[in-house]
Amino acid sequence: MNAQAATAQLGVQQLQDLEPTLEEFEAAVVAGLSATQKTLPCKFFYDAAGSVLFDRICKLPEYYLTRTELRILDEQAPAIAALLGPQASLVEFGAGSASKVGLILSRLEQPFSYVPVDISRKHLLAGAAGVARAFPGLRIAPVCADYTQNFALPAAASAAPGALGGFFPGSTIGNFTHPEAAVFLARTREILGPGAVMIVGVDLQKEERVLNAAYDDAAGVTAEFNLNLLRRINRELGGNFRIGEFEHAARWNEAEGRVEMHLVSRGAQSVRIGNARFEFQAGESIHTENSYKYSIASFQALASDAGYVPAACWTDERQLFSVHALRVP
Ligand code: AVJ
Repeated sequence: MNAQAATAQLGVQQLQDLEPTLEEFEAAVVAGLSATQKTLPCKFFYDAAGSVLFDRICKLPEYYLTRTELRILDEQAPAIAALLGPQASLVEFGAGSASKVGLILSRLEQPFSYVPVDISRKHLLAGAAGVARAFPGLRIAPVCADYTQNFALPAAASAAPGALGGFFPGSTIGNFTHPEAAVFLARTREILGPGAVMIVGVDLQKEERVLNAAYDDAAGVTAEFNLNLLRRINRELGGNFRIGEFEHAARWNEAEGRVEMHLVSRGAQSVRIGNARFEFQAGESIHTENSYKYSIASFQALASDAGYVPAACWTDERQLFSVHALRVP
């Protein structure tokens, strides 16, 4: 029995499949490495190996984000459930292994449906199956898509008798520039519609030392996660990156309000990917990720610009992380 047949038995409905193709991956890689400041889109970190590495990052002592957000969600789940009301439907953007949504679903009064949206079909279906096992009887309608692109809300969500909830945890919104974040928020506002409540996890600005450690851990797991992008290009696109010739670098950029991750070429070298060649100077970097950090006020201002009304914001006692509830007017 394949994964889809297996999940069908668990109340998981028809999959809407818009997973990026190998051609799209190749085009993005070639475009990124052809730019003056070489860059690779961080959404391609999450192949099977990258997803395992990311799960390890979430357990690192330096990576405070995941455990802090889980604590806030656990504490505030009753408040979130009260905002959503009975028979609500929850749409999770970038659901991945769907490890956080259970905290909310378990507090909802008669939840109607759950719609996980994720770029990786395998992770999406595994996460959906996990939620289906934990919440028998809940309608689950997975959508395999890049959530920055448009997709139609499945009937299981649009037909919910109660409110629609959006869920975007993990400070994944930090991967967007401010204009991109505004566009994403405005799009989710339109997808969800009037009366909906969007729950967003947002990492907060803090001491540089703490931020740098979170993205450059002592055990080197984040370095492996970053370098895996080159391994993935080698595996899937026939590249010949010599992984040892690149070094992980992560640093807080104060002017931009973000942590940047780069892969720095140790020496001058030439890399082939299929028929394309890319030249690197010694010390030249590939910019692989931005993680923007917000203040509570700056995120609420961004959300307001995108047409939301901030309804609540919860943080931990050390003000490391924030969870915002935004209402669609
Ligand atoms: C999943 C995008 C929130 O930016 O903190 C972790 C990814 N990168 N360590 C983040 C990540 C390096 C993570 N997000």
